[in-house]
Order: sequence, then structure tokens, then C-alpha cells
Amino acid sequence: IGNKIIDFDTIDSTNSYAKEIAKEVLHGTVIISEEQTGGRGRMGRSWTSPKSEGIWMSIILKPDIPPMEGMKMTQIAAASTCWAIRTVTGLEAYIKWPNDIVIDGKKVCGILTEMAGELNKIDYLIVGIGVNVNIEKFPVEFRDIATSLVIEKGEKVDRRTIVIELLQQFEKLYMDYINCGTLEKSLAIIRNYSAVLGKSIRILKGNQELRAEVIAINEEGLLRVRLEDGKEELLISGEVSIRGS
Ligand code: BTN
Repeated sequence: IGNKIIDFDTIDSTNSYAKEIAKEVLHGTVIISEEQTGGRGRMGRSWTSPKSEGIWMSIILKPDIPPMEGMKMTQIAAASTCWAIRTVTGLEAYIKWPNDIVIDGKKVCGILTEMAGELNKIDYLIVGIGVNVNIEKFPVEFRDIATSLVIEKGEKVDRRTIVIELLQQFEKLYMDYINCGTLEKSLAIIRNYSAVLGKSIRILKGNQELRAEVIAINEEGLLRVRLEDGKEELLISGEVSIRGS
């Protein structure tokens, strides 16, 4: 992972570019840009990616696994990013399942995993990671929900060091998954630094809002919740928001 890194000064979206070249490049190729003019988030949202103030990157993966397993790459990315932020900055970063990293309840990183292939085979996976590193100030409407490493730490943070730690950790956790077929090592991090485990959360499903207690993150990395009526359910994905935040 990261043996080949393609870096840009500016680009629309590293995920979109990764998709264009994915077929022609090797597994593990990384695209990184100083700035994105059309950064994409989940659910069709846009992702603000100001110049030199964050890590805007995409990892191209070509694992020989069933498409159903593809979303596990998001878990590996969340675990490695959370771990790298903690190691480099000492900040108390937590993973808000399935793909956000938060500090102090505010989002500092988002992950967008996209997949191409057929029913029984993955052609490639793009894992897009956006980390707000040195963004000093957010627009008023984001101040309660977004933060950056510089805001939390009170001093600038070196983006390079985080990228290196992140990719090294990603490689380790990815290889562990490929060799063992389980998410064991990633799950240890995900459970240890979970922002939702044991908490009361709101689940947004379409336009339905449910309240639930998170009781476990299972072996597959799925969230086991207990709904208000006492029924238990496994959440595969969907928008999860922690109550009170
Ligand atoms: C989200 O939380 O909605 C996911 C945000 C993902 C942002 C990253 S930045 C690098 C990569 N390229 C994109 O266009 N998006 C992802």
C-alpha cells in the first residue's frame, strides 16, 4: 500500500480520479492532492477540501474478496486513521461507526468507500479518506459539527507524518485481514476507540428516526443495537448519529 503515490496540487476529487485510472494501476496505488475542487462526501454531499489544510487521499485496492466484504475496507481505514491521529497528535480521536472519526464529538475525518465490479467479483475498491488537519476556522454552520487537528491540538500538525503512519497501519491491518480472513486487529482498535459502543444513538433510516442502544460491534464489524421496543437489530450501514450531538 502506497508503494506508488500520485500527488496533485489540485484536482476535482481524488476518488473520481482514482476511479478513472483504477483499471490501469497496481493494487495499493495512492492518490493524494493538496486541494480538491469537487470533493465528494457520502450521500451525495460535497466535502470541503481547502488547499494544504488537510489530507485528501484515495487508496486503490484490488482484493480477491467477495463484494459483500468490500465495506470491511472502510473499517480498516477508520481504524488506521484513528490510530494514526492518536499516535501522531496524542488527541483523543474516536470512531463513529461506520466511517467518521470524531474528536470532542465533532467530525475530523470522513471516509468514502466506492466499489466497482460484478455480483461475485470486485474489480477495484476506492477508499477515500479526508482528514481536516490544519483548517483553523470553519464556516459558522459547521462549527458545532466539524473540527480539525489544529483546532483541537492548538498547534499545526504535520500532514506527512500522519499520512505515513496511516498508510503503514492500513497495510498492517489490511494484510492481517487478507491473511486471517477476519477483522480481528482492526476490531480491537474500533472497539477500543468507539464513539458509539454502549451509547444511546439515533439511527436515521430514510426519513425514519429510531432510538437505540449500541450493545456490540460484531466480528463482521456490524453494529448490534437494541431498539426501544427491546428488539435487537444488526446495522449494516445507514446514517448513525449519536444522541445529543
Ligand atoms: C463523508 O464523511 O461524507 C466522506 C468524506 C470523504 C472525503 C474524502 S477526501 C478524499 C476523497 N476524495 C473525495 O472526493 N472524497 C474523499
